Amino acid sequence: MPALSIPEAEFVTSCPTLASAPRPSLPEIAFAGRSNVGKSSLINSLLNRRQLAMTSRTPGKTRLLNYYRIGKNLCYFVDLPGYGYARVPGETAGRWSHALEEYVGSSEHLLLVVLLLDMRQGLTPMDEQMVDALRIYRRTWLAVVTKSDKLTLGERRKTVSDLENRLAPRGATAIIPFSASTHDGRDAVWEAMRAVLNSRSAGK
Ligand code: GTP
Ligand code: MG
Repeated sequence: MPALSIPEAEFVTSCPTLASAPRPSLPEIAFAGRSNVGKSSLINSLLNRRQLAMTSRTPGKTRLLNYYRIGKNLCYFVDLPGYGYARVPGETAGRWSHALEEYVGSSEHLLLVVLLLDMRQGLTPMDEQMVDALRIYRRTWLAVVTKSDKLTLGERRKTVSDLENRLAPRGATAIIPFSASTHDGRDAVWEAMRAVLNSRSAGK
C-alpha cells in the first residue's frame, strides 16, 4: 500500500490475557520482538501517527496486549509485550510474559506475526526461541529488521542477507529492513501485510 493511503486507526483496548480480547473479532496482525526493539515505533510509522502506540527509551513499556483497529474493519494491529528484559529486580531477563506466550500459542484470529529484530543485534537467543515458537504453532510470519538508520548501507545489506539465509528456511515469508526515523521500508511492510490480508479474503 502506498504511504498516501494509510488507513485510519484507533486504540481499542489493552488487555492482560486473550480472554479479554475485543469484539467483534477481526483478523489480527501482531508485532513481536525484544523489549525496546521498536515495535510501538513501527506501528506509529505504519499509521503515520506520532504516539498512537506508546514508545519509550525504557525497555518493557508495553506489558499488555494492545489492540488498534485499522481502517473501518480491516484488521487489528496487536502490539505485544516485549521479551528479554527484567522489569523488576530478581526477575530473569529470559522470562516470557504469559500473555505473549498464550497469544502466540492460541489466538484464533492471528493472521500474521511481524517479528522485529534489531539491525545491530541480529538474532538473540530469545529471538531464536520466538522463531521456534512461530514454527511450532504454524504461524505465518515475517521479519522486520529495525533501526536500519544506525548502520551503513553496506552493513545493512550484509545483515539482511545473513538473516535471509537463516530465517527463510525457518519459515519467514520476508525479511524487510526498516527505520522508524526515516520511514525507510514502511511501504514494503505495508505491501507484505496487504498481501496476507488479501490472500485471506480471497480464500474465504
Ligand atoms: P517495549 O514496548 O518496551 O517492548 O519496546 P518497543 O519494542 O515497543 O520499542 P519502542 O518502539 O518503544 O522503541 C524503543 C526506543 O527505540 C525508542 O527510544 C525509539 O525512539 C527507538 N527506536 C525505535 N525504532 C527506531 C528506529 O528505527 N531507529 C532509531 N534510531 N530508533 C528507534
Ligand atoms: Mg512498545
